Amino acid sequence: DSGIGGLTVANAIKKALPNESIIYFGDTKHLPYGEKSPKTINEYSKKICDFLIKKNCKMIVIACNTASSVAYQNIKEACPETTIVNVIDPVIEYLSKESPSKKVGIIGTKGTINSGIYSKKIKEKIANTQVRTLATPLLAPMIEEGFINDTISKTVINNYLEKPILSGIEKIILACTHYPLIENIVKEFYNNKVEVIDSASQVASYVKKTLEKENLKSQQQAEYRFYVSDYTDSFEKSAKFFFNENIHLEEVIL
Ligand code: DGL
Repeated sequence: DSGIGGLTVANAIKKALPNESIIYFGDTKHLPYGEKSPKTINEYSKKICDFLIKKNCKMIVIACNTASSVAYQNIKEACPETTIVNVIDPVIEYLSKESPSKKVGIIGTKGTINSGIYSKKIKEKIANTQVRTLATPLLAPMIEEGFINDTISKTVINNYLEKPILSGIEKIILACTHYPLIENIVKEFYNNKVEVIDSASQVASYVKKTLEKENLKSQQQAEYRFYVSDYTDSFEKSAKFFFNENIHLEEVIL
């Protein structure tokens, strides 16, 4: 991921698969991804995958909706020996099998929303569903700066959710891996009348199923390693919050 957002996915994977070691890369130097061009996101994503492949990862989870939207296909082609998972398909699968609905709202970065990927995939897989999308570019940097559960974050989030384009939705997809950290404020806004779907838990069960199917599950003691392209306090704090005090965090130049 570009920063701490993917930690929500890594944390869900840790809970679902306690014997799997995780090597996490947060590209904090280039954050936010949501504002960058697809070409640039592709370049960063490829470098990160090369790094992870050198570390012998058997699977790479693109724990970022922006990179999943614009770089997944290219990464899959460039890394044929490694299983690549994006954070969009598991959510579409959940929606089509478990929770179809007539009107779905989607919020995410400009990169994700402008790619049109969610609308395209939903149209392909689920009949009669209206999709309402809204780019919410202030949210990822706000969360990265630690504004998670206070008056500032509530004001910004409510301002976005009040937009007419989202009125009358039955479900909302948090199409950015940073957003599970503000999920409670979204739920509060809708007074629990709208289902809030985040990718972290869907991705974790998808990863589990895939490892089982490909016979890749580990039985060993798990280890967690964290790499960032630029050391930041907020990253260290969040990594400790999810993965306890003794985390191993290193800065690397790609
Ligand atoms: N967490 C990422 C996503 O899911 C990227 C946020 C950002 O860096 O803009 O889109």
